[in-house]
Amino acid sequence: MTSELIPPDARYSKDTPYETWTKEQGIPIVKGYAVEDLRTVPLAPWPRKGGLGAFVDLEGSEQGAGSYLCEIPPGGSLEPQKHLYEEMILILGGRGATTIWNPGEPKQTFEWQEWSLFAPPLNTWHQHFNGQGDKPARYFAVTSAPVVMNLFHNMDFVLNNDFVFRDRYGAEEDYFSSKGKLMAYMERRRVWESNFVPDARSIKLHKWKERGAGGTNIMFELSDNTMAAHISEFPVGTYKKAHRHGPAANVILLSGTGYSLMWPEGGPWMKIDWHEGSLFIPPDRWFHQHFNTGKEPARYLALRWMSRKHPMGKAFKTDVSVKAGGDQIEYEDEGPEIRKLFEEECAREGVEVRMP
Ligand SMILES: [Fe+2]
Repeated sequence: MTSELIPPDARYSKDTPYETWTKEQGIPIVKGYAVEDLRTVPLAPWPRKGGLGAFVDLEGSEQGAGSYLCEIPPGGSLEPQKHLYEEMILILGGRGATTIWNPGEPKQTFEWQEWSLFAPPLNTWHQHFNGQGDKPARYFAVTSAPVVMNLFHNMDFVLNNDFVFRDRYGAEEDYFSSKGKLMAYMERRRVWESNFVPDARSIKLHKWKERGAGGTNIMFELSDNTMAAHISEFPVGTYKKAHRHGPAANVILLSGTGYSLMWPEGGPWMKIDWHEGSLFIPPDRWFHQHFNTGKEPARYLALRWMSRKHPMGKAFKTDVSVKAGGDQIEYEDEGPEIRKLFEEECAREGVEVRMP
């Protein structure tokens, strides 16, 4: 046996397989903590998709989830694709349709519009079409690609795999009809199990008083995924309680204006100003807190892990006080500078504070 030390090889780069793959795609990679408006990020031709695209790789992703933007040219379509990672799609602009199929089975097509939300079932073939000849159609997607690519580090396995997940999709005729079931997987929250949400901005929400500010919420389970989503809304002149959880929860503002504070335990906060179309991702276990300083309710969508139907581990107790072993800071326990800043910001915007 030799104890000769083998020198480093060019094959061992510092990049993960996911990072290597994203760089090979030749499109922009947006970095930072937030994106001011997903609808105006410059995109570049993306040969794999047959449209334009950019990856969004924010600090808070921590390769727990991947994010990208894609645009379908006016009157055009993207290349058919399938992949062994989950994908949730939010339409940011335009109208169009998507066709889904398992190999050798009937195809089905459904139509979408601005703020539609859906997920092509795992490893199904799917193709997106722009329904308008005079405008591009743009979407934002959150995927489990980093986890899957880094785990298997074999792109042929991930991108050219013929396994059919019949437990998730069997070409059911009404699969994308927007029908759903309101489930009570969780004591205090409502979970909408569906595969197509026609308009995330107008879907009915339900009370969730533990998170504060008279807020409303709905949780989503899409296409039997292990990833999941939720929408929350909170009223004018109010802010929510701070809480923390794991990385990679992509928070997209569907309406309203305001800001969020994010901070690691004991550390200084970072202020993210937002409006319709903004994205930010709180880094792993950073506390974060959302403030509405606008003239209308603020509604956001979170695309993230922690499905309740297909759990992968213990969930953070995001609506239970840290004093009771949870991950939320109650209003009475927060620092006085939180309220002070909110009052100043509201005064500047001419908005009345409506906190108790
Ligand atoms: Fe959160």
